[in-house]
Amino acid sequence: MKPLEMAKDIYWVGALDWESRDFHGYSTSPLGTTYNCFLVMDEKITLFDTVRRSHTEEMMHAISQLIDPKKIDYIVVNHVELDHTGALDMLVEKVNPEKIFISPMGEKSLKLIHHDRVDTWPLEVVKTGSACSLGKYNLAFLETRMVHWPDSMMTYVKEAKTLISQDAFGQNIASTERWADEIDRGVLERQMARYFANIVMPYSVQTKKAIAAIQDLKLEIENILPDHGLAFRGKDVAWALQKYQDFVDQKLKKKAVVIFDTMWYSTEKMAHAIAEGIASKGVSANVLYMKANDHSDVMQELLDSAAIVVGSPTHNNGVLPFVSAMLTYMKGLRPVGRIGAAFGSYGWSGEAAKYIQEWLAGMKMELPLEPLRFQYVPTSENFNACVEFGMKIADAVNAKLG
Ligand code: FEO
Repeated sequence: MKPLEMAKDIYWVGALDWESRDFHGYSTSPLGTTYNCFLVMDEKITLFDTVRRSHTEEMMHAISQLIDPKKIDYIVVNHVELDHTGALDMLVEKVNPEKIFISPMGEKSLKLIHHDRVDTWPLEVVKTGSACSLGKYNLAFLETRMVHWPDSMMTYVKEAKTLISQDAFGQNIASTERWADEIDRGVLERQMARYFANIVMPYSVQTKKAIAAIQDLKLEIENILPDHGLAFRGKDVAWALQKYQDFVDQKLKKKAVVIFDTMWYSTEKMAHAIAEGIASKGVSANVLYMKANDHSDVMQELLDSAAIVVGSPTHNNGVLPFVSAMLTYMKGLRPVGRIGAAFGSYGWSGEAAKYIQEWLAGMKMELPLEPLRFQYVPTSENFNACVEFGMKIADAVNAKLG
């Protein structure tokens, strides 16, 4: 891609990954992704982050359209994860930079990623409050630990009123557009939610602190440039900050997600009846079949849903594998303050719903109901009980959210 001037003298020189569907080995990315990096053209020419190793040539091509890459003086490593430092060793070898700015945790991690190659690199460790002049532009560094890794930091380019935010505010979208106001807002919102729910959510507390730190510094921000997806300018800056505030607060809506897997469709029918009961009380219900939706789809939905209702038939004294994998993934992402419920059909032993309930309890969910289970094929009476079960879940949501 051609470089694009995002703010005066700040150019996007990243790479598009149209084919990415497996983001970081654990989240799915149905719209691909981007590895954004930014070049500041000043007396000290400075590159912010690099790209995944597989996309090194694209980044070098973009940089070369502006300058000879050997003219890069400084590199800022805002985040060491390999989608941002995969190309770093090749770049350093080619450029021989004067300085590489990195956080204290970043320095430690980088040595574990690029090993003894790092020994000769001109690392300059910076902390929150550290500053650096590039000539016309001054940089201020802000450590944002665990947003997304311990090393993560953001950099504010003062005279450009631009915050380079690494993973924070990112979305997995490959597009020829670079600004959020150039694409469909619904697509942007869903992908921003998906990114947060699947990648950043376990670190909601740290992200909340990072947002507070940005606000406490009273920075004038006209642009936010994340390392993935579209960037924010003008009134979208406040919009993005508010979105993240809602995300970190895990602000919930009157919504419930009903997820299930099924063998002979009894659990599926129970799921439908439960959803009907939930919706009858004014709470939106979304039913996700685990053979047709993946774990990232579920987390995207759960981000603002007040309740999660999980169903599986009993299989070999346990839970079907897509459901147990989902529960493992969900637990790691630490949703807080949700209402949970469990259900499922069974043939003879019937443990699945009880195990699901225990998983939900392990996530500290409110569990207003005992697990609902029926043997073999549910009767009409059983379906009425499922509708009632859903109504009681909705009552709990309505009572919680008012
Ligand atoms: Fe975009 Fe945490 O890496």
